[in-house]
Amino acid sequence: MPRNPAVALVGPGAIGTTVAAALHEAGRTPMVYGRTAREHLELRVDEGRIVVPGPVRIDPAHAGGAVDLVFLAVKSTQLQAAAPWLTALCHPGTVVCVLQNGVEQESSIAPLLTDARIVPSVVWFPAQAQPDGSVWLRGDARLTVPDAPASRIVFEALRGTRCAVDLATDFTSVAWRKLLQNAAAGLMVLSGRRSGMFGRVDVARVTLGYLRECLEVARAEGAVLGDEVPGEILAGFQSNPADLGTSILADRVAGRPLEWDTRNGVVQRRGRAHGIPTPISDLVVPLLAAASDGPG
Ligand SMILES: NC(=O)c1ccc[n+]([C@@H]2O[C@H](COP(=O)([O-])OP(=O)(O)OC[C@H]3O[C@@H](n4cnc5c(N)ncnc54)[C@H](OP(=O)(O)O)[C@@H]3O)[C@@H](O)[C@H]2O)c1
Repeated sequence: MPRNPAVALVGPGAIGTTVAAALHEAGRTPMVYGRTAREHLELRVDEGRIVVPGPVRIDPAHAGGAVDLVFLAVKSTQLQAAAPWLTALCHPGTVVCVLQNGVEQESSIAPLLTDARIVPSVVWFPAQAQPDGSVWLRGDARLTVPDAPASRIVFEALRGTRCAVDLATDFTSVAWRKLLQNAAAGLMVLSGRRSGMFGRVDVARVTLGYLRECLEVARAEGAVLGDEVPGEILAGFQSNPADLGTSILADRVAGRPLEWDTRNGVVQRRGRAHGIPTPISDLVVPLLAAASDGPG
């Protein structure tokens, strides 16, 4: 592993800005690549604001060559469009750490890369883009990555920063637990409401039913998750600030494409592959897909 790895951040949105700010605070400022040109990034934290110097580069032709580590923080719906960055920034030894929701990070990104190594992650913290262009970090920054050799460079790059990194021996179970949380959060898109809605008895009942369906599919995929998990996830939503949303709701409100397939469709698809009935997904997924992609 290089002593001072060259680090790039692709996708300087809510999550990307948080990781870039954590690296910058520790004196490891990454090169930043995005879709919208900006002079700098700004993260709002409890103690104030962290400004990450830019500029945000927007032309892969001027990327500046391969790096050792890429943090990829575009949405799953933006992956194809961001592929030229991976071509420009990766050489055979590059590690690409994927900062996205979902359990299919490796299989969706592998076709875009030749030799680079992919490290999937679970992103645990909520971060929200603000109207002034800054990002508000609304929790302690924390990632989980698999306990595997390729994860070492990620762990070392973020060591001692405000973004903690956990190494998981059973990453499958951790990733599916987060996926259950993401799937249930998708219900906020259907109501157009934030976490407060889970305080309703009727919504809680539907959410528990949906989470139990997701749990069965997760177990068929090899996740080791107990019967208590749906209740714990529901309780988590109920203890959130009532105004805390989710990135898929923010996308819906802004009229952007939704990550419905990676967060919800995956349960239906994998359920079908295992012969598991998914009646709640069969209702939720088409409605999310239509909200995202239309027509109408
Ligand atoms: N936000 C959260 O609290 C949270 C929590 C856990 C997990 N996640 C997951 O983390 C992932 C990232 O979410 P996010 O909320 O950070 O999204 P986001 O704020 O929309 O950030 C995505 C960033 O990628 C940029 N981008 C889009 N297309 C690009 C391209 N072709 N090349 C380079 N950059 C491009 C966007 O540019 P523009 O500025 O031009 O839009 C934006 O800066 C998602 O999978 C999400 O589900 C989010």
